[in-house]
Amino acid sequence: MKLSQDAVERNVGLMVLLTLLVVSVGGLVEIVPLFFQKYATEPVTGLKPYDPLRLTGRDVYIREGCFLCHSQMIRPFRAETERYGHYSVGGEFVYDHPFQWGSKRTGPDLHRVGGRYSDEWHRAHLINPRDVVPDSNMPAFGFLEKAPADASTIEAKMRALRTVGVPYTDEEIAGAKKQLENKSELDALIAYLQGMGLEMKNAR
Ligand code: HEC
Repeated sequence: MKLSQDAVERNVGLMVLLTLLVVSVGGLVEIVPLFFQKYATEPVTGLKPYDPLRLTGRDVYIREGCFLCHSQMIRPFRAETERYGHYSVGGEFVYDHPFQWGSKRTGPDLHRVGGRYSDEWHRAHLINPRDVVPDSNMPAFGFLEKAPADASTIEAKMRALRTVGVPYTDEEIAGAKKQLENKSELDALIAYLQGMGLEMKNAR
């Protein structure tokens, strides 16, 4: 059967089917090779799995929806690199399950926020953003100060991450609960933010 342009344009079903076919082939050609590229699958120098406190902070970040207003993905454009620092590379996210790239920037990108401010600044900012940035419309997260960091699930979380390739050792998992003792969710969130993007902060 000869497939004429005319037949395709007059038949929506056929058009949809062929469009899907073209997009899938295009997608596969672009995406599949990435699974075999070192720069996308191997950790950048110095990258370590999240310690228990940071891992807990990351979960608070996800639960509170920080990703709805903040990306963690600096694009390789001058306007971005001058503002935020070195652009993000795949090898920085290999221990992120799931990654927090985000697609919305109501607030600034946070990928290189680690070390930019003091812990005290973050504490004040998260408790009431208006205290340090008068025009801020970021919500206040003061309640995290009174919420103890959840130690009951940390071992299970680390074991789960190990099954998808994060190299936690048995000792690290066994000692995890202890590291969350007397810590609040706010402490955990700040630890998470302070470690963000450091491995390539000074890269050129
Ligand atoms: C409704 C949108 C919104 C949400 C949700 C939100 N933020 Fe923000 N955030 C902003 C805006 C806008 C700014 C810029 C003004 C400011 O600094 O407060 C900002 C700034 C920041 C900054 C300072 C970044 C810099 O480079 O100066 C940090 C850190 C931050 N937010 C962390 C968080 C965390 C952690 C959460 C989740 C607990 C969160 N934000 C949730 C909107 C949001």
